Amino acid sequence: MAREFSTVGVVGLGTMGAGIVEVFARNGIDVVAVEIAEPALERGRATLKGSTDRAVAKGKLAEADRDALHERVRFAVGLDALHSVDLVIEAVPEHLDLKQRIFAELDRVCKPEAILATNTSSLSVTEISVATSRPNQVIGIHFFNPAPVMKLVEVVRTVVTAPEVVADVEALCARLGKVDVTINDRAGFIANALLFGYLNHAVGMFESHYATREDIDAAMKLGCGLPMGPLALMDLIGLDTAYEILDTMYRRGGRDRRHAPVPLLKQMVTAGLLGRKSGRGFYTYERPGSPKVVPDGTTPPAADAALADGARAITKVGIVGSGTMATGIVEVFARAGYEVVSVTRGAEKSASVCEAVKTSLNKGVVRGKLAEADRDAALGRITWTATLDHLADVDLVVEAVVEELSVKKALFASLDEICKPGVVLATTTSSLPVIDVAMATQRPADVVGLHFFNPAPVMPLVEVVRTIRTSPETTATARAVCAALGKTGVVCGDRSGFIVNALLFPYLNDAVKMLEASYSTADDIDHAMKLGCGYPMGPFELLDVVGLDVSLAIQRELYLELREPGFAPAPLLEHLVTAGYLGRKTRRGFRDHSHR
Ligand SMILES: NC(=O)c1ccc[n+]([C@@H]2O[C@H](COP(=O)([O-])OP(=O)(O)OC[C@H]3O[C@@H](n4cnc5c(N)ncnc54)[C@H](O)[C@@H]3O)[C@@H](O)[C@H]2O)c1
Repeated sequence: MAREFSTVGVVGLGTMGAGIVEVFARNGIDVVAVEIAEPALERGRATLKGSTDRAVAKGKLAEADRDALHERVRFAVGLDALHSVDLVIEAVPEHLDLKQRIFAELDRVCKPEAILATNTSSLSVTEISVATSRPNQVIGIHFFNPAPVMKLVEVVRTVVTAPEVVADVEALCARLGKVDVTINDRAGFIANALLFGYLNHAVGMFESHYATREDIDAAMKLGCGLPMGPLALMDLIGLDTAYEILDTMYRRGGRDRRHAPVPLLKQMVTAGLLGRKSGRGFYTYERPGSPKVVPDGTTPPAADAALADGARAITKVGIVGSGTMATGIVEVFARAGYEVVSVTRGAEKSASVCEAVKTSLNKGVVRGKLAEADRDAALGRITWTATLDHLADVDLVVEAVVEELSVKKALFASLDEICKPGVVLATTTSSLPVIDVAMATQRPADVVGLHFFNPAPVMPLVEVVRTIRTSPETTATARAVCAALGKTGVVCGDRSGFIVNALLFPYLNDAVKMLEASYSTADDIDHAMKLGCGYPMGPFELLDVVGLDVSLAIQRELYLELREPGFAPAPLLEHLVTAGYLGRKTRRGFRDHSHR
């Protein structure tokens, strides 16, 4: 029989604590909500009220249920109010000494059978537990932000946590409607161990002016389908909390440099820029605690202003190549009203590209997304040729041929001879340095990367890669073209992986390393990222879709260019590739897909 929890205590009503109170009270459990002082208690009360009022306004909570929920919560200053609760969750700032002090005090105040839980993200639950005389009743219950929304709870057991305590807490999570993964006490557990290296890397990109905050966030949202970009997420987590988590992970997790907090973070915390809770972090918010971003000094001008910013007029576009990307890009430009010259290596290839474009456009018609007349007009705008000379009068060339530097360089040298002056020459390379391609021409200022995502007609993102020789006009033109295609163009420097792959693949590689270390299972890791962080797919699902060979190749390049030891490909990934387990395409990768 699982233990009955009729009253629980929550200590600390900040970003997490206030949400945790709501989770319990919503599920019929009485809560004693404790803060250090009156003003903080008031803030916690206001957060709970704001959140439940929003739920009522959205029709997700009946007014009577909201009132009943509030009835269940008793607010108090000081831990003494917790003398008769069955379980306490501590959610005070991420400092070991503070948490140890609170646990020693809780041990004194709470009844002997009460379970004492911490919501720590990165500190050792074991170290916290030894501050009490009942370490076997101490456990980690790690909720995700925002607690009322995110489904996942990581239950962290130490070597001394009693098995029945683990079972009772698991049953409690089920009662709260949460999905739990139970794991051992390791820095960052599952989700944060995979998340924080990525977040810190994104802050590093911002700090080094590799890309703007808007572009970094848009890239990860639109390129990977994440619910929010990394810098917006840092603001939600709170920069002080994020700093402490990174610092602890660095010290506890093997001194991985990727967890050493980027210096900018410390500066922002010192300056009081803590994110949403203080009204300013990477972004500026309407007021402290508000989720609404308001424009500030670094907000970029509206898209139309960017268009005026020296962008050249583009009406006719040449697209070179006959693969998946070239085919998709031909369709995208033709649909957006550009005159398109498609260049392949022969009539047969042109015929097959033409066929593929027609099939795709027809699908649009069948699905009611495209009028027949618009399909016909789009097809009418395309000319098919196998002669590069037909690019003499285009305004923009998009190269999407095989991913081999020698081939691309030779092509760009030819384009340099054929194309009129002032043309923008773009490469869709996803892994080669754009500057190498640019230097094959006499006009590197006109060369830019336009990294489309697959499938090009569907994916809303394009990375605009500027080299150290790309002119501002060329970049502005590329960005304006993306906007005219109905896509978001994000501008970044010419470094391996650009924005999306540089942030995505090390995270995937880390997930493989975590599996390899037997810390958790592929299913639990996938669950953790989907239910804890709102990712559309877990890392192993995504690796099997992308292809393990492709992922390994990208990871190798990142490692070779940046020489970051933490980027070294996971041996397990290499072994799976060697064994021919490449993912869905070979029906086996991290999972067996032969029966699906
Ligand atoms: N922010 C996140 O996204 C997130 C997610 C999961 C877990 N966590 C973890 O939750 C914990 C709390 O983080 P947070 O972001 O909510 O911090 P926070 O700074 O937003 O809130 C902490 C609260 O604790 C209160 N407090 C401080 N000392 C206290 C004391 N002695 N007694 C009672 N209350 C006290 C503060 O007044 C404040 O309201 C940390 O361990 C953190 O790692 C945070």
